[in-house]
Formats: sequence, C-alpha cells, structure tokens
Amino acid sequence: MPGAQSVSFGERFFEHLSDEVMARILLENVTKVFDGKVKAVSNFNLNVANGEFMVIVGPSGCGKTTTLRMIAGLEEVTSGNIYFDDSLVNNVPPRNRDVAMVFQNYALYPHMNVYQNMAFALKMRNVSRFEIKKRIEDTAKLLGIKHLLHRKPRSLSGGQCQRVALGKAIVREPQAFLFDEPLSNLDTGLRLTTRAELKSLHQRLQTTTIYVTHDQAEAMSLGERICVVRDGEIQQTDRPMEVYERPVNKFVAGFLGTPAMNFFTGDLKLKNDSAYFTIGNDAIRLLPGLRSVLRDYYDNQMVLGIRPENVSLQQFSGQNDNVVSATVNVIEPVGNRMDVYLTHSMGQKFIADIDPHTKLQVNNAVKMYIDLQRIHIFEHGETGRNVTLSI
Ligand SMILES: Nc1ncnc2c1ncn2[C@@H]1O[C@H](COP(=O)(O)OP(=O)(O)O)[C@@H](O)[C@H]1O
Ligand SMILES: [Mg+2]
Repeated sequence: MPGAQSVSFGERFFEHLSDEVMARILLENVTKVFDGKVKAVSNFNLNVANGEFMVIVGPSGCGKTTTLRMIAGLEEVTSGNIYFDDSLVNNVPPRNRDVAMVFQNYALYPHMNVYQNMAFALKMRNVSRFEIKKRIEDTAKLLGIKHLLHRKPRSLSGGQCQRVALGKAIVREPQAFLFDEPLSNLDTGLRLTTRAELKSLHQRLQTTTIYVTHDQAEAMSLGERICVVRDGEIQQTDRPMEVYERPVNKFVAGFLGTPAMNFFTGDLKLKNDSAYFTIGNDAIRLLPGLRSVLRDYYDNQMVLGIRPENVSLQQFSGQNDNVVSATVNVIEPVGNRMDVYLTHSMGQKFIADIDPHTKLQVNNAVKMYIDLQRIHIFEHGETGRNVTLSI
C-alpha cells in the first residue's frame, strides 16, 4: 500500500482512539481532611484540558498523592466536586471512572508474567481474548517490551518494570492517565531517558494526563502546565517557563530552579525619583518601570530575588548601580557552568552561576553584578507575594 510505510506505528495503533475516550478533568474547591484534623488538600481548583499533560509538583507531604487518589476515586473528597467532562464523578466508584494510575512502586502482580499482568484489567472488563492479545502486542511493541511478555516481574530490572506498569495503563485505553512519581525509583540516567519517552508517548497518545512529582526539573520538562502546591494549597498553575520567570510568590520562586533563586533581605527606598533596594552599603537602583509598581512598599523591609544565572562577575550591557559586594566561599565546577557560593558583606549567602573557565579563588573579595531585568521583589514570609509581577 503506497504511503503505508510513512505512518508510524504509534499513529496506526491509536488512530482508532477517538477524542471521546479522553476527558477534561475539573477539580472545584476540592478539600480533603483526614480523621477530622489533617488537612491534606485545601480548596483545590484545577482545570485539566482534554489531552493536556498537567504536572502537580510540590514538596513531600503537600497533598499530591491524596489529590490523585481522589481523582481516581480511591479516596473520597471531604468537600468540593470532581468532574470528568461535564459529569460529576464524586460518587462514581473507581472502576467506573476509567482512569489508569501508574505508581512509583509499579504494582505488578508477582505471580503473573508480563502478558498476564497487562491482560488482567482487560479480562476483568470482559474484553475479548482477541482484542486483549492485539492491544498487548501493539503496546508491547510501542514500549519495546515484546521480548519480556513471558517473563515474571522479579526477573526484570526497575526500568523494565516501570515500562510494564506503563503498558498495563496504556492497554486499558483510559480516559486519563494518573502518574504518581513513576520515575522516582529509577536511577538518574534511566530517569532522564524514561522522562523523554513519556513525553514523546504523550505527544502520540494525547491522552489527558495528570502527573505528580516532587522533582521540579521533572515537572518543568514534562508539563504543558504545572501546578505548584505547598501544604495542600495551590500556589500557581501555568506554563513552566511562565511560572519560572513570573513566580507569584517567594515559595514558587525558590522551589523551581537549581541552584535555587537567591533572596536578599533589604530596604526599599525612593531617592531622587529612583527606586533603590539597599543591602547594607550596596544600593541597587531598580529599573524605572518598577518605581510606581513599588509605590506601596517604600521604606519597608522587603526581599529581593535573583536567580544564580542572573548574577555575574561581568557587568550587564547598559546597566549600572547593580553591584553586590561579597566573598567567595566555595567554587563548584559543574561542567557547563560553575556554581560559586558567596557571602554578601552583610552576611547573606547567595550563589552565582558563571562561566566555568573563570579564574576565581576562595576567600577572594568580589563585586558581583545582578541583572536588573531579572529582579523580583517579594514581601516577607515563606509565601511572600511577588510585588513586581504587574509589569
Ligand atoms: N490515609 C491517611 N490518613 C491520615 N493522613 C494522611 C493519609 N494519607 C495522607 N495523609 C497526610 O496527608 C498529607 C498529604 O499526604 P500525601 O498526599 O501523601 O502527600 P504527597 O503525595 O504530596 O507526599 C500528609 O500530611 C500525610 O501525612
Ligand atoms: Mg505522594
């Protein structure tokens, strides 16, 4: 058949999946309180579009797993509503929600081989033997695990088990995939390649996906949008680079990016019609565009945030009055960059990512330039608001 060769395997396999089998998932004021006292999830509002890859990211214990379990129906909501498309599913039992969950610990049946593991959920749903065989063969080919179909889980490596777990989810052709830290048991190299494969798999399948992780780099690289959570509360939901460049508060700013954003406590002043942020004897003249944005905050103690990659030993073109004086504590070459750990003359610690070939010595006193275009000013406190966002 002319042209048949150019249709990729994945496209052929999934062309029969119509849009109707996927769903938009909407969480409306969803709250979960355990035992009448532990508030695990607080007033979640999240709208995951049909076909979207949404990542929920936050520190351990912030409520990620609980959220996924409520979406899967494994945990009741204390209050609020969960919709798949326009149907309220609060009272729909898990087996009728038609979502497939993939966990960190694979959850394979040890006494069954890979084929039987993948077939299990389909048999329970009375899918015909012929259809089961076809779906498993197609999926196994897609994931490169055909040669493993007759092996038992204990004879497989971690990466192979994770693939099988993924295969179990895919053969079900669910309305949505729910992933709970599926890569955290893999070692670094495998984690990165599997991450890339997951992304390419989603590009082919286009199945609505909610993916949970504590790893901000994983979140940034996988999510079409990411939802940053702290202590059961959503802080910000947006495209990864938007959240990275325009964090709504100090928590989000510090959570995304390695090394983390630097924070300096100092005073905001208005002098001769210019806004200054002073850290001890260093006065940083903020860009004119910030002057009116900051009007409610002059003479207050505030927090200046600047990412390590925006701190340099060289002046940024066209800038001045942007120096912080510091001492070099530790130099860490990382290959493509060098992380320099510094202490400001007022005692605040910070990090600069600079060219790895820079000649620099520990205990050197240095003047560091900070990129005025990349400064954020926050209110105090762990979730202090970013007051420079409105420009
Ligand atoms: N079954 C449970 N009973 C009581 N508390 C729970 C239960 N499950 C989770 N929690 C608590 O809810 C909070 C959120 O947990 P979890 O959703 O597992 O967080 P994450 O997945 O982000 O690490 C934690 O404080 C945890 O101890
Ligand atoms: Mg968890």
